[in-house]
Amino acid sequence: MTERTSEDDILLAKRIISAAERHDVSVLQILLKNGSANVQDPTVSVASSPLHAAISACGKAEKGNEAGEDAVKTLELLLENGAIWNDLNKEDETPGCIALRLRQTKLYDIMVQAGIRAELLFARMEELGLSDDSDDDEEEDELVGERPSAKKQKLSGEDVREIQEAVEDKVLDDVSLDNRAYLKSQLRYKPGILLDESDNAVMMDWETQIMQRHAETLIPKAGLKVMNVGHGMGIVDTAIQTHDPAEHHIIEAHPQVHARLREQGWYDKPNVIIHEGRWQDVLPKLVDEGVLLDAIYYDTFAEDYKALKEFFAEYVVQLLAPEGRFGWYNGLGADRQICYDVYTKVAEIDLQEAGFETSWEDIEVPKSLHGSKEWEGTRRPYWTIDVYRLPVNTFSK
Ligand SMILES: C[S@@+](CC[C@H](N)C(=O)[O-])C[C@H]1O[C@@H](n2cnc3c(N)ncnc32)[C@H](O)[C@@H]1O
Repeated sequence: MTERTSEDDILLAKRIISAAERHDVSVLQILLKNGSANVQDPTVSVASSPLHAAISACGKAEKGNEAGEDAVKTLELLLENGAIWNDLNKEDETPGCIALRLRQTKLYDIMVQAGIRAELLFARMEELGLSDDSDDDEEEDELVGERPSAKKQKLSGEDVREIQEAVEDKVLDDVSLDNRAYLKSQLRYKPGILLDESDNAVMMDWETQIMQRHAETLIPKAGLKVMNVGHGMGIVDTAIQTHDPAEHHIIEAHPQVHARLREQGWYDKPNVIIHEGRWQDVLPKLVDEGVLLDAIYYDTFAEDYKALKEFFAEYVVQLLAPEGRFGWYNGLGADRQICYDVYTKVAEIDLQEAGFETSWEDIEVPKSLHGSKEWEGTRRPYWTIDVYRLPVNTFSK
């Protein structure tokens, strides 16, 4: 038997991509017996995977130009054969980004569904210790995930490379990639913005309307017991105070934020109880004490989706009163619409499994935010999409 050369591989890659582009399902089926659904053609620059090629070939969905059954079947075949839903091409677009740009709704929905399935499966494999990422080294574990973190964090191809290098030489250029590194880093409070040591915006004041609405949806009347995790700029805590809670617990882990809380008199407010430390350390004690709360809000930083899931599945279920409400800052993947859509749904499914039902309220973010001066001096805009989907969770009846 003759060995396959790299020229053979390039030829096979070209044939797979071309079949995907032509939506030629029967040829693709044969080619995928020998080649991968994730091949890249190193000789072209635009569509770098078969999924990208199959979607790009559909063009803009205008009247009569909607993707047909052959395109749908091509996507399905590629995905069944392990095509990666969030692979990036050289223009930093996932296949779903292209479908969205071309307004190919049917194809976009297929990519969202594929993303949800893949992320749920990946998380399950990690729980069972079957994924490459499942590692006893907690620090490394937090670093290598390719999914966006729960707050203002996405991992682009460049980020993933940066993380891999950081893991290798243990130097972290971006502290937001690791919660403990972030908590040791220097913060800067500036007018309207809180920055970390790596110039990531931890919190910005354009989110005030969102924070106020979270407080309103979680606290329907005065005299309730409320908890907020993550003080930041104190916007949501200020909003919570306007609803006259009987108890207002604040969990915060960063020493500079504690100093700020002190300066601003939060320790002296009669109904406020501040718990200094990471929620991971504080909450088990509150559970042991039998604390029961009417409303819980979660908005931390430099934590990934896994942390959010642990938060609600382990702790909210124990700390929330039967008629209580839980909300969290839904910022996961908010610099890429498809990531946002996938993670919003993944969270809803996991919440359902943990015994919650979720209702959503859509809030338009200020149009002026996109490409604006607001991001000057920050490492990257963490919000580029148009609508914030605000979740309110109650126990399922
Ligand atoms: C985005 S800010 C919160 C903004 C806040 N919602 C507001 O309205 O200003 C995130 C906060 O969570 C804190 N934090 C990060 N990780 C934490 C952890 N594991 N436990 C407790 N607090 C944490 C950060 O120090 C920061 O103050």
